[in-house]
Amino acid sequence: MSGTVQPHRFWSRRGYDSAGIATISGGKICAEKDVGKLDQVCGKHDLDGLPGNIGIGHVRWATHGDVTQVNAHPHFDCKRQIAVVHNGIVENYQELRTRLESNHLFVSQTDTEVIPHLIEDYMDAGASLEEAVLKASKQLKGCYAFAAVSVKEPDKIVATRRESPLVVGANTHRSFIASDALAFLEETNRVVFLEDGEMVILGKNITFLDKDGKPVIREFKEVDWKWDQATKQGYDFYMLKEIMEEPQAIKQATMQDKRLLLEMAIGILRSKQVVITACGTSRYAALVGRYLFSRLAGQFCDVIMGSEFQYFSDSIDKNTLVIAVSQSGETADVIQGVKRAKENGATIYSLVNTVGSSLARMSDRVLYLNCGPEIGVAATKTFVSQLALFYLLSFTMANKLDDGLEQLLDVCPKIERGFGKNSKKLQGLAQQTRDKHDFYYIARGINFAIAAEGALKMKEISYVHAEGMPAGELKHGTLALIEKNTPVVVICPKDYTYEETIANAHETKARGAFVIGVSEEMNPIFDEWIEIPEVDEVFQPLVTVVPLQLLAYYSALARGRDPDKPRNLAKSVTVK
Ligand code: AGP
Repeated sequence: MSGTVQPHRFWSRRGYDSAGIATISGGKICAEKDVGKLDQVCGKHDLDGLPGNIGIGHVRWATHGDVTQVNAHPHFDCKRQIAVVHNGIVENYQELRTRLESNHLFVSQTDTEVIPHLIEDYMDAGASLEEAVLKASKQLKGCYAFAAVSVKEPDKIVATRRESPLVVGANTHRSFIASDALAFLEETNRVVFLEDGEMVILGKNITFLDKDGKPVIREFKEVDWKWDQATKQGYDFYMLKEIMEEPQAIKQATMQDKRLLLEMAIGILRSKQVVITACGTSRYAALVGRYLFSRLAGQFCDVIMGSEFQYFSDSIDKNTLVIAVSQSGETADVIQGVKRAKENGATIYSLVNTVGSSLARMSDRVLYLNCGPEIGVAATKTFVSQLALFYLLSFTMANKLDDGLEQLLDVCPKIERGFGKNSKKLQGLAQQTRDKHDFYYIARGINFAIAAEGALKMKEISYVHAEGMPAGELKHGTLALIEKNTPVVVICPKDYTYEETIANAHETKARGAFVIGVSEEMNPIFDEWIEIPEVDEVFQPLVTVVPLQLLAYYSALARGRDPDKPRNLAKSVTVK
């Protein structure tokens, strides 16, 4: 960095409800913000054209306050001399707001707005921007990563975090802060992940301060993601591109240090109790993992969803091994449970995609997915990469890693061939079912998790009610919902679960269901057949999940949805 004033940027890319930017120029704050996805807001306002060398921006995922222009970030102090953008939730904002309201003007319904007003008070009393940020942050309860600018110190951005992620990047002429490195990867891959309570000042130089405001030295490291991995590369949507990358993602996930795998496998086998914790799609990968541990290595373990894990902390101790699974490594529900388990003395292993993420940093051992950035909100390639890591661990636990690796790599070309084979049929099926509002997915054994994952994909990007469940469970309640032409996706590869699953399909057919079979062979009960290649039973999830991801993708398109940015969802869920 040279000694001149440098352009600096803060950009948060967590949500899609609304967006805004504030810059400093000519002794005042220039800002634009509005409701909508980023490209819609850019269409209405010239965000790029705002003057100045300093800027903070935000893409909102609403937690407190409706999706309105006034609730969009940045937020300001009374005199509009300070601007703040924030990720996370200020849990005590009501109490702070009540205290501040006597001499501050609040305009939004957000928790965030207390932050610029707190900073304003401290700066009015003579504090510098960084002193005011430090003092304000000490007043906040909950999780936050926020960045502030002030016209009184127009050459700097000050940012700090607790529990919500914040990463600093720099190249020779610019510096950045963002909630993840992808936000500035086009400019630099040299980063520092800020620790809890730390602060950074982007000014003529980059200064790091500890939680007491004392300078600390932090080394920049390179992340190995490349910007072009985060582009669409000719595809209309990231989701389709990422599904097509799955065979390659599996291969990349197999590139692991065998010694580390062995250490982790031994750790799992020796532990008194093993618990896997994860959310959403990562939890379904964990359910496949649990099956593999049992089937291949005779090791039982439990899977607990991230948001519930902390409530089991009474039975987590130093004899517990926790395996946390998360593509982002930033999911607040997972991190909270893991933190509690660590406090109780548990050992933590994690399977994550984002190098340097919070979860990776708090784990005793980490396996990385190595599949490059995943941009689509719907997890696809990270799911198969998570499965690949569970194969590696399970085969290592069974002392058959080389054999397992060979079999795993043999599945990749079969997935590839499936793309061409099923694509037309799946597009037709998506059109045919575009007026349906309820889908059911059933399977047994290792594919039960795939039924759940298929349903989740359909829900999140097509906005259709979908339920996935073990086929045997259907008759214990859900069967009451099956009516004439209700789509029921029956995942039934020809293994030892086949006959029983087909019997369950007959139960739905007898109530009028439209049966979509996912199997190696046509069965007369299928109204539509999605063909999958023959693979060994333990590898079936890799070939059954892909057509279900594509069915969800084509269904989203058939219903006019944006599969990359589904409503109400964010790629990394960094709030509890
Ligand atoms: C997946 O399609 C979803 N977007 C969501 O369920 C996701 O898997 C979940 O939020 C967990 O995310 P993580 O893997 O980053 O922890």
